[in-house]
Amino acid sequence: MANNSLISDKMNAALNEQIGNEMSASMQYIAIAAYFDSEDLLELARHFYRQSEEERTHALRFLKFVVDAGASVEMGALPQPQNRFNLAEEAIQKALDGEITVTRQINALVDMATRENDHITHNFLQWFVTEQLEEVSSTSTLLKIVQRAGESNLLMVEEYLVRNGRLGAEPEASST
Ligand code: FEO
Repeated sequence: MANNSLISDKMNAALNEQIGNEMSASMQYIAIAAYFDSEDLLELARHFYRQSEEERTHALRFLKFVVDAGASVEMGALPQPQNRFNLAEEAIQKALDGEITVTRQINALVDMATRENDHITHNFLQWFVTEQLEEVSSTSTLLKIVQRAGESNLLMVEEYLVRNGRLGAEPEASST
């Protein structure tokens, strides 16, 4: 353990890995956004560019926690994202698979924090536990909408996104 660090070396390494995982998710979302952009599906593109930004803020949230805990940040290499998609459904399924993977990663971190009696990290991770429920749910909704519309009616999905605003956003009444 680094001097005065509040977390173990093992937890430090796992959190650094998660910084990379969140940056990978951000890269994958840019690739998905670029696909929709090139298909002139601008609302879908906008949705995924925004998701990419969100993932970057997740990475920075982990990074800041590592710094605040007195541990050391180490950035690793990122895997290449999938850049080619044949169908909108394929691109959104990729997004949903990614969110399910991140959910498992967050759960594994919570398990590690529990095993180590690391209440500080455990508490920090709760925000991500809630966030993953929202992200899996909103991506799964988007997938169902695309499946219902069908590949030849993606303009209906675009209209849906315009009408309903940001998928997964907090309902007005509860955003205080
Ligand atoms: Fe940061 Fe969408 O997981």
